[in-house]
Amino acid sequence: MIILNQIKKVYNPKGANAFEALHGISLRIEDGEMAAVIGRSGAGKSTLLHILACIDTSEGGEYTIDGTAVSGLSERKAAQIRNEKIGMVMQDFALVEDFTALENVMLPLEFAKAKKPNRQQLAMNALNSVGMGSNAKKPVSKLSGGQKQRVAIARAIVNQPSVILADEPTGALDSGTAAEIMDVFRELNSQGKTVIIVTHDMSIAEQCSRIIEIADGNLVT
Ligand SMILES: Nc1ncnc2c1ncn2[C@@H]1O[C@H](COP(=O)(O)OP(=O)(O)OP(=O)(O)O)[C@@H](O)[C@H]1O
Ligand SMILES: [Mg+2]
Repeated sequence: MIILNQIKKVYNPKGANAFEALHGISLRIEDGEMAAVIGRSGAGKSTLLHILACIDTSEGGEYTIDGTAVSGLSERKAAQIRNEKIGMVMQDFALVEDFTALENVMLPLEFAKAKKPNRQQLAMNALNSVGMGSNAKKPVSKLSGGQKQRVAIARAIVNQPSVILADEPTGALDSGTAAEIMDVFRELNSQGKTVIIVTHDMSIAEQCSRIIEIADGNLVT
């Protein structure tokens, strides 16, 4: 379970241009939920997702995941939690274009603390589960947008995280491909994973069981 209590995010906290992007967000997300995060551009959606993913830290409040307090942890400990519990699909995929799909999906396994002997097989399993097994050996630069999105999802799930976070995963896709990607997320959710999707698209948000709206760094209730 994820609990945010009065989370504040300040960019450049010590500079003259300090900017408070989140003003005290309190939120509880149960295991197995499928939630959409919506709000206007600049509302703080990506900021919130980065904090949830332990990619960024907050300047106030507490974040607890499965009973572990994340706020105040060292960078190493936070990275460990990220590796074990969280799969993140970034807004721009953040794939290595020169690497094959398989090599990209194997990357998180290289970073994992416990080196698994069957890394290639685990990566293939993840690619197969998003329908990309037959493209495993292709360089990412040769894949379509929807195929890249699938590889990014495979990379996010290869470590078997309990929480999957996705930032505008359908933003760059046509509606048919977007529907296929949503099927992938729904399938992951039906396997018990918590799925949190940032989206501008109400038709995507309505496919989730819960909608979390942010406006100007605040939760809209
Ligand atoms: N690294 C940063 N330094 C300073 N300000 C930032 C930084 N990142 C984001 N911001 C500011 O924080 C606010 C929230 O940004 P964020 O990226 O979370 O918005 P968003 O809701 O994801 O928007 P979009 O829908 O356009 O992706 C914005 O006003 C943005 O300008
Ligand atoms: Mg964003």
